[in-house]
Amino acid sequence: MSDVRPSSMKRITNKKLAQAFIDEQVKAIRKEVGDEKVLLALSGGVDSSVVAALLIKAIGKKLICVHVNHGLLRKGESEQVIQVFKKEMGATLIYRNKAALFLNKLKGVSDPEKKRKIIGKIFIDVFAEEAKKLKDVRYLAQGTIYPDILESKGVKAHHNVGGLPKSLKFELIEPVKFLYKDEVRVVGEALGLPKSMVYRQPFPGPGLGVRCTGAITKDRLEALREADAILRQEIEKLPETPWQYFCVIPDLKSTGIKDGKRYMGWPVILRAVNTKDAVTAKSFEIPYRALYKIRDRIIREVPGVNRVLWDYSDKPVSTIEWE
Ligand code: XMP
Repeated sequence: MSDVRPSSMKRITNKKLAQAFIDEQVKAIRKEVGDEKVLLALSGGVDSSVVAALLIKAIGKKLICVHVNHGLLRKGESEQVIQVFKKEMGATLIYRNKAALFLNKLKGVSDPEKKRKIIGKIFIDVFAEEAKKLKDVRYLAQGTIYPDILESKGVKAHHNVGGLPKSLKFELIEPVKFLYKDEVRVVGEALGLPKSMVYRQPFPGPGLGVRCTGAITKDRLEALREADAILRQEIEKLPETPWQYFCVIPDLKSTGIKDGKRYMGWPVILRAVNTKDAVTAKSFEIPYRALYKIRDRIIREVPGVNRVLWDYSDKPVSTIEWE
């Protein structure tokens, strides 16, 4: 099949157009798949979630979703995947909590690119292992979207394009491969997915792993997850929310004071940016009232943290992520 979006394809901008797309895809998927089973790696990101919802509509239980929790997800994310897909939509969902395995393999690894490679590799290994256990699955669905295809033609290899080992002989199904992100979101809403999932801010594949800088430890990762949840809760109360917002915990401690004694703790760094395409970005002005509330809550609620900083640098020269 061609990798070029047909020129006749209308831009999906509203519910009606999304419904037409859904009807057409459901028909096409049923025709192609017949009685066979389809496997999907469901990360909880927008693209794989929309593909999952589309396939559940088309083939129901014959879609087998595998959700691998690498322990580097944000607070509540795996729970939301299970709630929405298994409990509400009745999907066949295999959940694997591999947090301990990932942490173990990442022990002592401080180089960001090495961390990314390890996370990517174990992810594929775990998924391949699950896939091999399922003997009678013919198809693999992927949440490839059009920008992934366009980017793969240039220098940037994309994780959705050609990541799985060749020994897994699946036929691919990529129902949203000609859609842009905004169209995927419109389709997701029309499929009844929660807004918090459809309008989820971008989140790197290696997750919190690249925000817990240097060698990751369990306690620092947990502190990061808690701080990040607080930041998100407070930012989401604002009338205007930035494109991406998160916390970072660098691998360092500084002096604090608690009960009259020296208390060495980690700093939490707040980051919130606005951008169109992530190539350049402007720091988002977090209102002071929100900044103070976030600071107070993090210091009060997150063990091990004794300082809160705000990274208000623009890109360039700073990248959005710290690693
Ligand atoms: P930077 O840090 O390069 O980030 O300014 C630009 C955008 O890309 C996201 N990002 C990633 N996404 N895997 C991903 O899927 C990654 O390894 C990765 N690194 C950065 C980042 O969150 C930002 O939106």
